Amino acid sequence: MIRKLVLLATAVTMIPIHAEAQRSDPRPAYHFAPKRNWMNDPNGLVYFEGEYHLFYQYNPHGDRWGHMSWGHAVSRDLVNWEELPVAIPETADVMAFSGSAVIDWKNSTGLGRGGRPPMIAIYTGHNPKANLQSQYLAYSNDRGRTWAVHGEVLSIGTPDFRDPKVFWHAPTQRWVMVAVMADENKAVLFTSPDLKQWTFASSFGPAGGRGKNWECPDLFEMPVEGGRPGEKRWVLSINLGDNAVGGGSGGQYFVGDFDGRRFTPVEGWGGAPVWTDYGADFYAAVTWNDLPKNDPRRIWIGWANDWRYAEAIPTYPSRGIMTVPRAITLRKGVQGYRLTQNPVREFEALRGAPQAARQIRLGEEPVLLPVTGGTAELKAELAFGGAEQISIALTDAEGYQMIIGVNPTVNEVFLDRSRSGPHFHDGFANRHVAPVDLSRGKVSLRLLVDESIVELFINDGEQTITDRFFRGSGSLRWTASARGAPATMDLTAWPIKQDPMR
Ligand code: FRU
Repeated sequence: MIRKLVLLATAVTMIPIHAEAQRSDPRPAYHFAPKRNWMNDPNGLVYFEGEYHLFYQYNPHGDRWGHMSWGHAVSRDLVNWEELPVAIPETADVMAFSGSAVIDWKNSTGLGRGGRPPMIAIYTGHNPKANLQSQYLAYSNDRGRTWAVHGEVLSIGTPDFRDPKVFWHAPTQRWVMVAVMADENKAVLFTSPDLKQWTFASSFGPAGGRGKNWECPDLFEMPVEGGRPGEKRWVLSINLGDNAVGGGSGGQYFVGDFDGRRFTPVEGWGGAPVWTDYGADFYAAVTWNDLPKNDPRRIWIGWANDWRYAEAIPTYPSRGIMTVPRAITLRKGVQGYRLTQNPVREFEALRGAPQAARQIRLGEEPVLLPVTGGTAELKAELAFGGAEQISIALTDAEGYQMIIGVNPTVNEVFLDRSRSGPHFHDGFANRHVAPVDLSRGKVSLRLLVDESIVELFINDGEQTITDRFFRGSGSLRWTASARGAPATMDLTAWPIKQDPMR
C-alpha cells in the first residue's frame, strides 16, 4: 500500500514536467545541443589527438542563462558529438565565461605532465561581487576530461573585459590574445611567452558595426582566393550583442594585416560593417585551434541564437543549439575581401539516398518537393525567367510557414519566419534579407533544415542566412512556387541520417 502511495505521489509530481514536455519541439537531429539545460557561446574549440573539442557556455542547473560553466562535447568527425561532464564549473564567486583553448606544445606554461603537452583554457572569470572580469587559466593533462584552475592571469581592473581568443603566432614566437573591452566596442591585443604573463600590444575600434557590446572576437590568417599569388590576410571577427544586421546579436569582420602586435584593416575598406551572416541566429562564432597539420582548413561554429529572445525560445529540456561546423575561406572579389562559409565536408556522410529532379517548372500553384519530414538538405539551382519572387515553403499541419525566398528584381534572398509558428517573443517574427547580385538570372541555394533551424548557403557560401523557427504540430510539407512569371529549378534533396548516439 505504502509503495502504491509513493508511486501515486510520483505520478502527481510528474504532471508539470509532462506539461513542459508538451512545449518541446522535435530535437534537432544533426545540430549539437546538450541533453538538457541552457547553452550559449562555443568556447575552447581545439583539436587534440583525434578529437575535436567543443566547450560551450553552459548552465548545469537550469534552462536559462546563469551559473556559467564550461560544458563539453567531443567528436572525431565534426558531425557526431558526444556530450561529456562539465569541464570547468563556476566557483563560489567566479563564473567561467567565454574563452579559448590551445595545446601548449612546448610546455611553455610548465603545466604539462610526463612529456605530453597540456591543454590550456584561457577564459573570462566573471566576478559580479567584485564587479570585475579578468582572464583565467585552467589546464588539463587528460585530453580535456578533467581540469585544474591555475588562477587569474590578466586583469585590467574593469568589469567588461572578456572573451579571450588565444593562438600561437609563429613569426614572433609568442602567444597572442585578442579580447574585448565590450562596452567600449574595442578589441584589445596582448602577447605572452608562457600564457601566464601578458603584455598589452594594441587596441582596435570602435569601427564598423557598433552596439552595446562587442563580444567573442577571433583573429586568424587566411590565404586569399582570387588575390595576388601567395596573398594572405588576417581576419578579425567581432560579434555585436545587439544592433547587428538581423536586428539583434550577430557577427561582423574586418580584413587586414597583423604583425604580431597590431591589426590594421586593408586600405580602401570604407568603414561600413561587413556582416558574417544575414539571419538572426548566428552568434559568437569562433574557429578551431590546432587543426591537424595536414588539414589546411579554417573551421568555425556559431551559437544559433539571438540574445533578444534566447531565454524565451520554446524548447525543453534543453535551450540552445550550435550551427553545423562551417569551413570558411577568404575571397577577393568586386566588393573587396569576403568570407565564404560552407558546411564542413564531413557533414555529407550524414546524407541518405538523394532525390534529384531537373527543370522543375515553378508557377503560382505550389509544386510538392520530394522531401518529407523536418530534417533534410536541399540544393536548388534556380533560373528566374521573369519571375518576381520564387519561394520554397515549409508548411506544418497548422498552416505555419517558414519561407525561403528570392526576389530577383530587388537583388534579395530572404528567410521569412514571420508566420513560422505560435508567437512567443515580439523580436522573433521577422524576415531576414541578404543582398545578392541576381542580375545573371540565377542563384544557387543550399539549405540545411533540422526541425527548428534553417541554415541557408547562397552561391557556394558567399552569403549565409541562419534562422531558427518554432513551428506548430505535424510534419513539414515542402513546396515551391514562382510569382509573376514561371521559373525553373534543378533540385537535389537528401534525407539526413539521425545521429545514432543521441
Ligand atoms: C556572448 C557572451 C560573452 C560572455 C558570455 C557569457 O554571448 O555575452 O561575452 O563571455 O556570453 O555567457
